[in-house]
Amino acid sequence: MDVIQISDLRGRPRAPRPEEVNLNFSEKAVRELEQLLNHYPDKKSAILPCLWIAQREYGGYLPSEAIAEVALRLDRSYAEIEGVATFYTMYHVGHPTGKHLIEVCTCLSCHLCGAYRLADHIKSKLGIDWGETTPDGMFTIEEVECLDACDRAPVLQISDQYYGPVDDKTVDAILEKLKSETSPSTVRLADEIVQAQLHKRDQEKVSGN
Ligand code: FES
Repeated sequence: MDVIQISDLRGRPRAPRPEEVNLNFSEKAVRELEQLLNHYPDKKSAILPCLWIAQREYGGYLPSEAIAEVALRLDRSYAEIEGVATFYTMYHVGHPTGKHLIEVCTCLSCHLCGAYRLADHIKSKLGIDWGETTPDGMFTIEEVECLDACDRAPVLQISDQYYGPVDDKTVDAILEKLKSETSPSTVRLADEIVQAQLHKRDQEKVSGN
């Protein structure tokens, strides 16, 4: 049996080299990242906001190219960025979601108010199950934990919008409306979060915090 030397395990995985990575961030994204980096003591602290920028820039999800680009821009290893991105469920790693991600809360209050029955209605209308995407790439449905809007149960989240209480009729109307929207709500949500981060940091700067 091969013996692994302790010294072999000491080195951390390296950041990707520039020649190994395609840089796809837009000029706007690069500027936003520079702005955000000014507010953190080191690049590592900017991993979460940088992943949001990447999720927007790469069309609402994080393919391996996006993980590599974030790793390169922040001088971290691919493994570290991937570890963070796969830990948080709001980052979509590896494969694209539909243009509109429908998140159905099935926690206690929503469950008692019919969340699973509602989810069954959506799933049969779209012909997909949890975690699946419609063949036209329009919708993905996911089950999520409490959305902190229990007084409006049953609740759905689509992008930055909460809908509740909803019934079959309301859901049908929401789906129809979303079909005619041109921009993917997953990209819009990522952008809203980036803008909120930038605004929050600017506010903190003004108030001296
Ligand atoms: S249980 Fe659904 S929002 Fe809290």
